[in-house]
Amino acid sequence: MKDDVQAYVKSQLQQAQQGGSVGTGSGIPGVKLPDFSQFGEIEKEAMSRMMSATATNMQRSWLNVPHVTQFEDADITDMEAFRKAQKAAGEKKGVKMTPLPFMLKACATALAELPQFNVSLDMDKKEVIRKKYIHIGIAVDTPHGLMVPVIRNVDQKGLWELAAESAELAQKARDKQLKPAEMQGACFTITSLGGIGGTAFTPIVNTPEVAILGVSKAAMKPVWDGKAFQPRLMLPLSLSYDHRAVNGADAARFTSCLSRLLSDLRELLL
Ligand code: COA
Repeated sequence: MKDDVQAYVKSQLQQAQQGGSVGTGSGIPGVKLPDFSQFGEIEKEAMSRMMSATATNMQRSWLNVPHVTQFEDADITDMEAFRKAQKAAGEKKGVKMTPLPFMLKACATALAELPQFNVSLDMDKKEVIRKKYIHIGIAVDTPHGLMVPVIRNVDQKGLWELAAESAELAQKARDKQLKPAEMQGACFTITSLGGIGGTAFTPIVNTPEVAILGVSKAAMKPVWDGKAFQPRLMLPLSLSYDHRAVNGADAARFTSCLSRLLSDLRELLL
């Protein structure tokens, strides 16, 4: 009836105006905000364009992607010794070698070994799109919000090149100098909170990519070697993935592969 249609349209419009609504037809009720000023002093500020775009993207990924997160600890005692030994060489080159280039290299190798992670899904056409290139996004925390510049062909680059490029892109992100093309085309994303802290987290997949690696802060832990506990530097990894594209066994294979590669960097040469 005409009245029913009008009532429906009215209710949908009201829902959209309430803010936080997912969109008409989704069936998810909007979040109705109370008047916070009744509880105490408040201040209102318009969202920046970047914050609003990030919010939309996060919500889109969270609602469209069935997320699962796989956790693993990698023993990076030897990797850290090697990294620290590069300090003088880094000073000569003017490049700081942080753990991030090692993560990039290990992820590129894992993506080549387990290509089911280097795909996107076209659910309309029921197609899996396989990528023959390995471009990896790095989440960069900036004063104006989260930005994700992309390093292209990570598999073809060495650690110094990756260190220089990631530092340059992170600086460009902080200076708001990234070009749109520098933020496109990623197959996979790394989000590292290791310089800040935390033991684990569940990152949101940057869809249409199908997986994202969260890196937390490395810590010394007692690890049993069969005879005694040994102090080892353990790096917590959190791999969130789109369970439509990737199954749990493959996710465990991916994090095991990363752990193996980071525990013994010689594996990266094989
Ligand atoms: N465990 C322990 N220490 C770590 C570490 C880890 N996993 N990762 C980095 N560090 C150390 C570095 O070695 C460095 O220490 P040093 O100066 O003694 O050598 C220090 O932390 C700072 O490193 P950082 O400047 O963060 O460099 P990076 O190459 O590791 O990371 C970025 C670069 C761009 C990823 C980082 O600056 C950043 O923005 N991270 C936040 C990303 C984010 O917000 N993600 C959330 C998205 S939802």
